[in-house]
Amino acid sequence: MRKKIIAGNWKMNMTPSEAVALVNELKPLVVNDEVDVVFCVPAIDIIPCMEAAKGSNINIGAENMYFEEKGAFTGEISPAMLVDAGVKYVVLGHSERREYFAETDETVNKKVLKAFEHGITPIVCCGETLAQREQGVTIDFIRQQIKVAFVGVTAEQAKTAVIAYEPIWAIGTGKVATKEQAEEVCAAIRACIAEVYDTDTAQAIRIQYGGSVSAASAPELFAMPNIDGGLVGGASLKPDFGKIVNYK
Ligand code: PGA
Repeated sequence: MRKKIIAGNWKMNMTPSEAVALVNELKPLVVNDEVDVVFCVPAIDIIPCMEAAKGSNINIGAENMYFEEKGAFTGEISPAMLVDAGVKYVVLGHSERREYFAETDETVNKKVLKAFEHGITPIVCCGETLAQREQGVTIDFIRQQIKVAFVGVTAEQAKTAVIAYEPIWAIGTGKVATKEQAEEVCAAIRACIAEVYDTDTAQAIRIQYGGSVSAASAPELFAMPNIDGGLVGGASLKPDFGKIVNYK
């Protein structure tokens, strides 16, 4: 039985002091032992959020990470920096990073490998555009993203990974995928993992849905057999996130 994982993606929101206030506000609302709860926050908020979340069930994650160890990469955050701050999860390859910061399947793969090397669990994002969905190439496109992201990743590592399926047309638009649409793609991702690795790995890996998840849509999405939780943007900044974590 896979444990659900529900992660907030704060994106570029919350100053350090606002972040601490939000963690303190949400702390009592997101208690649920049946779910792994992660707040993926801006780099500058990681340390104050860690402090604020101490003693709670909240894991603090990062929204990005560079694939080099250290050195002349102005503005980047290294894996060792995240580990030293206590980070266990990192979002990699979010569609906004692909669109605005030129991330490719290849750079996502380098980051995924680096994260595993440092014992950080990657939340690997994938997702099609509306045009791709309308052209009927969604599954082909997602399979390609996943296969490239996992090049060189061992089955033992892949078992611990998290994949977030986030259709780009559903992100921040209020247009959530139907539970059938989300399930179809999450099932296809699991089948792809089974093909690349084996059934054990496919059964172990956790696959989230993301894209306009709300307290209203979470229960039916998370009840689908291949959806193991969610990656939540807008609603993770509100008390509603407590309802999403306690979706049952
Ligand atoms: P949204 O964002 O929930 O605001 O649509 C999801 C995401 O981008 O991870």
